[in-house]
Amino acid sequence: MLFALLLISLPSTLALPLFGGLFGSSSSKAPAPPPPTPLSVSSASDAFLRPGQFARAAYCSSASLAAWSCGAPCEAIKGVTFLQSGGDEGAIPLYYIAHSAEDDAIVVAHEGTDPKKLLSILNDAQFGLVPLNASRFPDTEDQNITVHEGFQKTFERTADGLLAGVMSGLSATGASKVLVTGHSLGAALSSLTGALIKTTLAASPDPALAAVPVTVVGFGQPRGGNPAFASFLEGLFPSSAPSPDLATDAMGFVTNQHDPVPVVPPLFLGFVHTQGEVHVVDDSGDNLLACPGRDNTGCVTGNGLLATSVQDHLGPYFAGLTFGGKECTD
Ligand SMILES: *[C@@H]1O[C@H](CO)[C@@H](O)[C@H](O)[C@H]1NC(C)=O
Ligand SMILES: *[C@@H]1O[C@H](CO)[C@@H](O)[C@H](O)[C@H]1NC(C)=O
Repeated sequence: MLFALLLISLPSTLALPLFGGLFGSSSSKAPAPPPPTPLSVSSASDAFLRPGQFARAAYCSSASLAAWSCGAPCEAIKGVTFLQSGGDEGAIPLYYIAHSAEDDAIVVAHEGTDPKKLLSILNDAQFGLVPLNASRFPDTEDQNITVHEGFQKTFERTADGLLAGVMSGLSATGASKVLVTGHSLGAALSSLTGALIKTTLAASPDPALAAVPVTVVGFGQPRGGNPAFASFLEGLFPSSAPSPDLATDAMGFVTNQHDPVPVVPPLFLGFVHTQGEVHVVDDSGDNLLACPGRDNTGCVTGNGLLATSVQDHLGPYFAGLTFGGKECTD
């Protein structure tokens, strides 16, 4: 709701000149990325459906997740052992860590901004860019990386316990891969969590841990930081196409129709997405685009700011995937 209000309240006199900057037609030094190409539902499902199901379950209560009996979201994902949850389903958004035997992976899923959960939405309303915490990401000092202040603050509230849970989960289960996923605010947090897990693993003296691939998947995510942050993430996760077997370091995200969230904070404030967008064009769920480069204007970034639909934030995306907790038993 806040997003809608914010977008609608852009002065109309400002809106026109902004469009050039917003949609990349002015002052872009890099050549425009090639146009999007159609993506089959089966390819999209292979890469994104299971991560999306884990992200959907993050809206269920931690008690129901602990027993892995949260209704349809838990039943959709077989062979899962709950390991840990954190956050408080309020100011500190819920996350859970689970072992997926079928995927041979430790899975981290972050809850997002259910529009009913005002506190989570307020987390999104802090729009400043601040330096990435160089004490947590030592190799990034002097790279001028800036990130969304609210996302980093929220991330910091659970980062230590979450990282410890992932490391102990890997050692206790012998899983050889990591998947980090989330919707909405949860997707923004997934980028930071994924970067923390990847940089920690890569620095491990244990070659087995150093080789663990990390896949990061987001749905309906806002822009998280500046171009240097996007470059940092694209360096950690060179593949923009998550592999169904989670075998590569990959980062990708899905945007739905006229969801206002993925177009904020706007480009003119210095925020960008990473590469790796897949865009859902309509409610059929069959009409999907793979969007090369960052902020491809053939995908969600090209949407008019005034034609937005908050309902599109929740879904349906494709294969019936929707978010927001309606399908949880509690
Ligand atoms: C930066 O990260 C360190 C851990 O490396 C943490 O102790 C500190 O609180 C973080 N700083 C901020 C401002 O969040
Ligand atoms: C970071 O910003 C400073 C000051 O603007 C500049 O001198 C430096 O070259 C930048 N570093 C990188 C890696 O872009």
